[in-house]
Amino acid sequence: VSSLNNKQELREKILAKRKSFDSVLVEESSRIISNYLINSDLFSQSKVIMTYLNYPKEVQTDYIFQAAIKQNKTVTIPVCVKESTDLIPSKITDLNQLAIGYYGLREPKKEYLNPVDPKLIDLIIVPGVAFDLKGNRIGHGKGYYDTFFKKISTSAIKIGLAYQFQIIEDSWNADSWDVPLDGLITENGFIYLKKIQ
Ligand SMILES: Nc1ncnc2c1ncn2[C@@H]1O[C@H](COP(=O)(O)OP(=O)(O)O)[C@@H](O)[C@H]1O
Ligand SMILES: [Mg+2]
Repeated sequence: VSSLNNKQELREKILAKRKSFDSVLVEESSRIISNYLINSDLFSQSKVIMTYLNYPKEVQTDYIFQAAIKQNKTVTIPVCVKESTDLIPSKITDLNQLAIGYYGLREPKKEYLNPVDPKLIDLIIVPGVAFDLKGNRIGHGKGYYDTFFKKISTSAIKIGLAYQFQIIEDSWNADSWDVPLDGLITENGFIYLKKIQ
């Protein structure tokens, strides 16, 4: 099995699991995962963050967004650029500045688009379908984050949020363009990888 097929198989398997994950558990787990992040030094020390906004069954991030705004951080959310499969971090100050955009995700309404230089971001909250314990990540298969990570500061910390069932103990073969994360948070807490600690 080539590594690509391997990734695709895992992607489909975990996406199916996530689809059937109970909505009440989505809420509960998201709150627990969010609290691990919000109560961390990593979070308190960050000044400019980027956080994804979740699909229905993904780990929810609205609570993280609200906490970051309350702490006067600059909060950006990723805006998808379909043509280049790239992300543009856009600063928003309130979730009511959003409307449903590409892929059914919330994105800023036109008048609220406010691009921020990716190099200024110090903490990135990353979604994913599956993760291994080395920080390798499987996304939805378009490589948006791999493309975006080439443009960020080398000191930026990239943290994935996942339910425990999204963590794969055995690694797969990552592709040359896959950019590993620095840490993960699940219902069981932080899994530190590199750069932090
Ligand atoms: N930095 C990059 N340079 C070239 N191609 C890339 C890069 N990042 C992603 N890609 C392209 O994006 C596609 C999807 O990447 P993949 O890692 O499988 O997706 P995901 O990270 O969303 O799981 C790959 O087939 C690859 O061609
Ligand atoms: Mg990838």
